[in-house]
Amino acid sequence: MNLILLGPPGAGKGTQGALLAERRGLARIATGDLLRDAVAKGTPLGEAAKGYMDAGELVPDEVVLGLVREILADEEATPGGFLLDGFPRTIPQAEGLDGILAELDRPLDAVVVIEVADDVLVRRISGRRACPKCGAVYNIYSDPPRSPGVCDRCGGALAERADDTAETVRRRLEVYHEQTAPLIAYYEAGPTPVHRVDGDRPVPEVLDAILGALEK
Ligand code: AP5
Repeated sequence: MNLILLGPPGAGKGTQGALLAERRGLARIATGDLLRDAVAKGTPLGEAAKGYMDAGELVPDEVVLGLVREILADEEATPGGFLLDGFPRTIPQAEGLDGILAELDRPLDAVVVIEVADDVLVRRISGRRACPKCGAVYNIYSDPPRSPGVCDRCGGALAERADDTAETVRRRLEVYHEQTAPLIAYYEAGPTPVHRVDGDRPVPEVLDAILGALEK
């Protein structure tokens, strides 16, 4: 199964993407995680992306498309199918993806849109804490670690994401509404089924709703 997960910042794409990938044996391709990893390692890709990410802007389309093309072309890395989390984010990225998938003969099976209101997103993101060592994600309001500031999994010190400041979050939401939300209509006008799911409920309920929609 080949899926796209769409939704605004903080909607739960990473949370649901990890659960879905495990349940369905999919390779999760999260462009945000790949870019953050490149920034942390100081690679040329990271150097190119950092300024855009810190400002809440999108990294240029050709950079992200090149990254995704390379991963999708390696079918051995995604044998059971793939789940794209945070990509595509613009109409040119969606058009580029259509071309890549046609070339590789790997059609999409579904697009899942996780919907959450902006005021809920702002609070959620303000509560996000992540472990830089193992990548585990928590939320001080809805999913706190057992000991404040300490990762349950590996004992690492939890941190806020560099782009989770109030000002950057405001810009990320604007960018989502301007450049990414139009993708919903783009996919609804095409042949791939689009499932809209209410993401403003507990994580297991959102997962059940997504799995239920994918069964249809
Ligand atoms: P990216 O990392 O993709 O960030 P994003 O889209 O802004 O999404 P987030 O990671 O903030 O949120 P999420 O939806 O994954 O939510 P999560 O599960 O973590 O991108 C970052 C940057 O990289 C971009 O701004 C851009 O610069 C660049 N970039 C990435 N892809 C790009 C592309 N394709 N093109 C160009 N640039 C690109 O959950 C959030 C919090 O809420 C967590 O604390 C979680 O525990 C909690 N939570 C989750 N679900 C629930 C729930 N149901 N109820 C309560 N709390 C919940």
